[in-house]
Amino acid sequence: MPSRADITYFGAGPSALPTEVIEDAAQALINYNDTGLGIAEHSHRSDIAKNIINKTKADLASYLDIPDDYEILFMSGGGSGEFAAVAYNFVGAWVARKQAEIGSGDNAVPQLQSALKDLKMDYIITGGWSQKAAAEAERLFGAEHVNVVADSRKVNNGKFGVIPDESTWNLSQGAAFVYYCDNETVDGVELPGFPKALESTGVNEPIVVADMSSNILSRKVPIKKFSAIFFGAQKNLGLTGITVVVIKKSFLPPVTSQPSATLMRQLGLPIPPRIFEYETAAKNNSLYNTLSIFDVYVAGQVLNRLLQQYPNKVEGQQAVSEEKAQIIYGALEACPNIYKIIPDKTARSRMNICFRIEGGDAVEAAFLKEGTALGLTGLKGHRSLGGIRASNYNAISIGGAKKLADFIGAFAKKQGQS
Ligand SMILES: Cc1ncc(COP(=O)(O)O)c(C=O)c1O
Repeated sequence: MPSRADITYFGAGPSALPTEVIEDAAQALINYNDTGLGIAEHSHRSDIAKNIINKTKADLASYLDIPDDYEILFMSGGGSGEFAAVAYNFVGAWVARKQAEIGSGDNAVPQLQSALKDLKMDYIITGGWSQKAAAEAERLFGAEHVNVVADSRKVNNGKFGVIPDESTWNLSQGAAFVYYCDNETVDGVELPGFPKALESTGVNEPIVVADMSSNILSRKVPIKKFSAIFFGAQKNLGLTGITVVVIKKSFLPPVTSQPSATLMRQLGLPIPPRIFEYETAAKNNSLYNTLSIFDVYVAGQVLNRLLQQYPNKVEGQQAVSEEKAQIIYGALEACPNIYKIIPDKTARSRMNICFRIEGGDAVEAAFLKEGTALGLTGLKGHRSLGGIRASNYNAISIGGAKKLADFIGAFAKKQGQS
């Protein structure tokens, strides 16, 4: 039976966590800080829970350099829940802005109703996850309110794998928000940086929201350029069960309040469930309903460890993430007759490295089998894409990346070419 030390796990999420964090979590689950009770048994309203929440928020803010005018929320419902929550909350904020412009006279509702023709949610579709987010917005609000700014498949023979040139992006004026996925976990596509087309011009300030579920904590984020970012914990931050939203406070009370349920009904727009309302989460410091404090605790331990490991915080991790990605891509590029990296070089993800092996399914199955025998597991590509996917999250060490690179080279040699 293998031990944890024998296995380098490249699964796309949930992902491996540092063994020290898991060992500590196991102990905390049994008896937290000598209280005679496990952390998952303590009340979420206890001081213990509040301290864990506040310390984790402070450490996340420190590690990512999140400014004071942003709020950190712990939500449930995963990344998929956020597809709906983003649409609900930012459309609510759009209605609140229109309401403020129009005022509360007798004609306010018909005026708002006629303003709805301008309600647009902008989506940049670069892979399966942004596509799903756009589909959720369409399902909730109607296709007439969703504007596809760009779709990689249109410029890449029907497949994801590139970022469409920004000069072709079709952004709406005054959109409720413009949305993108910073790292497409399934397709292995990562935006190289913040899109120039979304920079504030002073006159035009796009409301930018990004899904950072699979690359958060691995590179610097220019938080100030975003109205909100969100990420599920289960790749680089912790366990499945909590989703983090970092949102500019100006989208929360007292500056912006969600419109009343009555008004939204009059306008024929959907009303968010309370648990998906950012203002409800913010008012209650993420404790509107029972939050999994154990999951927040584990995230806190991961952050604590990162802060100890990297005095220069996320920049330290960023350098390591880039080095590991170069090691793995370098090994693949050294054997071009055997390995075909799926995404274009300009859009390659540092986190999810997707490739095919010459010879098709049978050779790929042999690669997976031989890899597993060496303790290199979780390498099977997503069911929609096939092939191999090495998820190079923070818990993969440089040694782990080198071990995979060595195997990539040795396997190619055995195939008779390199
Ligand atoms: C980038 C990205 N966004 C969203 C999701 C959906 O997250 P969840 O499964 O927590 O709903 C995933 C899941 O892997 C993801 O990788």
